[in-house]
Amino acid sequence: MKKVSYKELGLVNTKKMFAKAVKGGYAIPAFNFNTMEQMQAIVQAAVETKSPVIMQVSKGARKYANPTILRYMAQGAVEYAKELGCKNPQIVLHLDHGDSFETCKSCIDMGFSSVMIDGSSLPFAENIKLTKKVVAYAHKYDVTVEAELGVLAGVEDEVSAAESHYTKPEEVVEFATKTGCDSLAISIGTSHGAYKFKPEQCKRDEKTGLLIPPPLAFGVLKAVEKQLPGFPIVLHGSSSVPQEYVKIINENGGKLPDAVGIPEAQLRKAAKSAVCKINIDSDSRLAMTAAVRQYFAQHPEHFDPRQYLGPAREEMKKLYIHKIVKVLGSNDKL
Ligand code: G3H
Ligand code: 13P
Ligand code: ZN
Repeated sequence: MKKVSYKELGLVNTKKMFAKAVKGGYAIPAFNFNTMEQMQAIVQAAVETKSPVIMQVSKGARKYANPTILRYMAQGAVEYAKELGCKNPQIVLHLDHGDSFETCKSCIDMGFSSVMIDGSSLPFAENIKLTKKVVAYAHKYDVTVEAELGVLAGVEDEVSAAESHYTKPEEVVEFATKTGCDSLAISIGTSHGAYKFKPEQCKRDEKTGLLIPPPLAFGVLKAVEKQLPGFPIVLHGSSSVPQEYVKIINENGGKLPDAVGIPEAQLRKAAKSAVCKINIDSDSRLAMTAAVRQYFAQHPEHFDPRQYLGPAREEMKKLYIHKIVKVLGSNDKL
């Protein structure tokens, strides 16, 4: 594929977007997408709420959908947003959990406006070395770079860790200075997927039987902010795992016992701080799955994908709007 700059595709990087968000006390939504329906729902939600948005693509998404197709979908997203009446769409195409210099370079060369290099599983000095190399390449093309310090429990694409290791606030200044990264993902107790805590880490509500997760480590976040005042901080693993979706899934043939996420009130609190990018993927998967399972239970005779993917797209759009307006506060910022 011919090299192309994201600027020609109508995309933007995260620089101004993050500066505005940190100042304004809100966070930009970073929604993962793998399918056309997710892309459409993200764009519709962003346009209707007048929100900037980060559309992010994981290594797994590139493998599933094909990197070229995803890139054109993001370009299509900009045009679609304009068609829906948005004069100045603020859409970032971001690589989520880039695992090597080569993957980041390939994305930059094909029109991504932002990349993450996830060296969080490497020793500190190696994480710095790798991140610095990606930053040097990315900045030549005005592409912004997210790095990560600290380890999230669970699966980080193909890297998995049994336990989380909170970011050490005493390391962040050296890391940010030496790498030149534009934003930093930190570990304060979030994790990927629909099972963010084990039942033994939670309390259980006596009436509903639902798990009540432990609070995030806001002390660590505060200490990081103190070290790096105004620096853009990113939270991964920030799905809330809405229990209404879990219930619909379980009542319609699914099996997600004790699925639990991060309470939205805690994300709202984080969004008001230097956290200016909040990553949400699992909640969209749950919305889609709940809608499809319910649809099939109610219409066993249907088999046209448009019949069940249409309601799934609507449900995802509802979820994205809810996150933007009620959790992140990024609405009316265009
Ligand atoms: O970081 C995890 C994201 O939810 C992406 O997940 O690697 O299964 O596409 P994935
Ligand atoms: P969730 O699994 O909590 O949605 O996190 C997504 C994420 O961090 C993508 O990088
Ligand atoms: Zn992540």
